[in-house]
Amino acid sequence: MRYRKLGSSDLEVSEISLGSWLTYSGGIDADRTRACTEAAFDAGINFFDTANVYGQGAAETAWGEILSAHPRDSYVLATKVWGPMSDDPADQGLSPTQIAKQIDASLTRLNTDYVDLYQAHRFDPAVPVEDIVEAFQKVVEQGKARCVGFSEWTPEQIQAAIDIAGADLFVSSQPQYSMLWQAPEAQVFGLCAANGISQIVWSPLAQGVLTGKYKPGQPVPEGSRFASADMAVSQDLVYSDAALEAVQRLVPIAEQAGMSMPTLALAWVLRRSEVASAITGASRPEQVHANAAASGVHLSDDLLTAVDQALGDVPVTEPTLAPGAQPGILHR
Ligand SMILES: NC(=O)c1ccc[n+]([C@@H]2O[C@H](COP(=O)([O-])OP(=O)(O)OC[C@H]3O[C@@H](n4cnc5c(N)ncnc54)[C@H](OP(=O)(O)O)[C@@H]3O)[C@@H](O)[C@H]2O)c1
Repeated sequence: MRYRKLGSSDLEVSEISLGSWLTYSGGIDADRTRACTEAAFDAGINFFDTANVYGQGAAETAWGEILSAHPRDSYVLATKVWGPMSDDPADQGLSPTQIAKQIDASLTRLNTDYVDLYQAHRFDPAVPVEDIVEAFQKVVEQGKARCVGFSEWTPEQIQAAIDIAGADLFVSSQPQYSMLWQAPEAQVFGLCAANGISQIVWSPLAQGVLTGKYKPGQPVPEGSRFASADMAVSQDLVYSDAALEAVQRLVPIAEQAGMSMPTLALAWVLRRSEVASAITGASRPEQVHANAAASGVHLSDDLLTAVDQALGDVPVTEPTLAPGAQPGILHR
């Protein structure tokens, strides 16, 4: 496993990281959650990403038990705040009160005194940016988080926050990014790089679509995420016939290059130096090991050209969301 520096921080994160979104919030059982997490340590993964809203605390609680059996300085722990934690309309967003309350609740569930990275899961237009920045600064000053990041902020929101915070506070940006979803390359990558902010990208396998296991016109494989009523998330753009057909065009390209589809897809996101880590999900320990193997794999220019040709016009390359829309977030 190789490691990259996280933005302007002194944190070194594994190129492949493990996330707990649909899987360890209740999608798979406790034994497999433990097996996947331990497989990550075995594979050299040191970076773990969760959120308060995943299973409304369940994912953090599961990892609080498992991770705390490892020395605290042997892993980099990231969580997030923003999603609704109860039916109370005030129990969500980025108000200073909510941030102060949620960091304490996350630390209790995670069984630790601090997280390495505390992230705004989305932007909150109802709170002045100054107040958001100040609330995160306070969390750092109190020693409850070492660094701060954000997820799916627009370039305008990122710039507004940097204008207030300076370039030092934020070290990471967490956008969706994969062969099928290339939109953040357009503006977010450059703006962040200019301000010492790394990308840590979510769903780099497009929730498993880029492994090639979903075939156009065929039933969804049993036991897979898209076959699960609990885990499947409506993402028409990564799970359309056009996307599945493009992925099948990639399969022989990976084979010819002597690599698996997960390796091709993960090495593809890691080809960009702006990306510090690809945050993968895994429902089985074998997947963790298969995905970890992508670290350090170089893709030649010819291979990248063949990938572009195979993808055709399928990838989403422009931010397509209406202001306020929230891609790929599940409040369970
Ligand atoms: N910031 C945000 O808003 C946001 C949003 C979403 C996710 N995230 C973060 O990103 C993390 C990863 O997201 P994701 O789970 O969608 O990532 P992903 O890596 O694109 O998809 C993971 C899923 O693909 C399948 N898979 C993974 N490796 C495989 C392999 N080698 N062979 C076959 N199938 C494989 C597994 O599903 P099955 O085995 O069940 O089919 C697995 O659960 C999350 O846990 C979370 O930490 C953040």
